[in-house]
Amino acid sequence: MLWSDSDADLKAAALEIQQGNVVAMPTETVYGLAANALSPLAVRKIFEAKGRPADNPLIVHISEPEQMVHYAIPDVRAQRLAECFWPGPLTFILPKKDTIPSVVSAGLDSVALRLPAHPIALRLIREAGVPLAAPSANLSGKPSGTTAEHVLNDFKTKIAGVIDGGACICGLESTVVSLLDTRPVLLRPGFVTPEQLRQVLPDLIIANAVESQLKNSEKVLSPGLAHRHYAPEAETIGCLGQPEQIFKYLCTLQICKQDAVLCFEGEEKFFSVSIVETYGKRGDPESQGRQLFDALRNLDRKKPNRIFVCVEKTAGIGLAVYNRLLRACSFRMIDTERITGL
Ligand code: TXA
Ligand code: MG
Repeated sequence: MLWSDSDADLKAAALEIQQGNVVAMPTETVYGLAANALSPLAVRKIFEAKGRPADNPLIVHISEPEQMVHYAIPDVRAQRLAECFWPGPLTFILPKKDTIPSVVSAGLDSVALRLPAHPIALRLIREAGVPLAAPSANLSGKPSGTTAEHVLNDFKTKIAGVIDGGACICGLESTVVSLLDTRPVLLRPGFVTPEQLRQVLPDLIIANAVESQLKNSEKVLSPGLAHRHYAPEAETIGCLGQPEQIFKYLCTLQICKQDAVLCFEGEEKFFSVSIVETYGKRGDPESQGRQLFDALRNLDRKKPNRIFVCVEKTAGIGLAVYNRLLRACSFRMIDTERITGL
């Protein structure tokens, strides 16, 4: 079922939630696969539809900041973050209350909370009258869905329906911050940047897993960071550097017709390969974030042999784009500017 944002359609979608079914909703970050967070049976359907490992907890979406106290033990840092960044693309993790079933938190004694900024998501939560557990709307391991069409492609008849809210304006999932320890930890970068967070949380630490592969001995702070993620079907290799340098590097690899390049807008001319896709502009991570998952999905459809992605490493929202690309490339990131003799 494809619903519009009309009142009648929102009511129909909310009814499905109340009946314990799964509905895909747009948020400002990515689409979410939503179900009643207070119903273990309903939440299990999300895990089934996604093929999501049971050890990976879900974010609980609320519509008013005051609802936080029903589900978590808040502290002043959470209150400040909510005042500054909600509604918006920020999730924080707090000790959970018993109202949240353990299937939502994957057995952990914490819960992730978010108050999204998308009007359709807010209307759905209010109409359903319950908090909504919602992971990104993609098959587990695949790029997150950022349009209703992406969601339909992944789930077709596996869910009750999708509310079409057009393309998501951020395109990357929310920033996730853990408030479980004395020092807050950034677990997943997003459109709320470390620089913005430090205005409120000056002692914020960035988890090692944000920018590097976890060593086997390292403690996993967030289960989602340990799973394969955002990966296209084809082998994907990240290439840092200017386009001329990246193309010189590709020429050393015996590229074939079926290899693809994902580059920045306006840089297509540097790459003489048959499959070229773009994701935003160099120097503009906001545009990159908005288009990245759509571009990865487009490439998948063309069934390339390998995908070479042009990457730049920048601060702010750039950290979020880099973090997703590291995972899409299974941490294969080549700095072509450091290869001498090209
Ligand atoms: O933008 C978003 O956050 C989207 C939209 C739909 O709101 N949702 C989303 O959910 O990206 P998901 O499930 O794809 O990613 C949630 C991340 C996962 O990495 C998960 O492991 C982590 O948050 N997480 C959730 N609860 C947690 C907890 N209690 N402790 C640590 N990490 C947690
Ligand atoms: Mg996800």
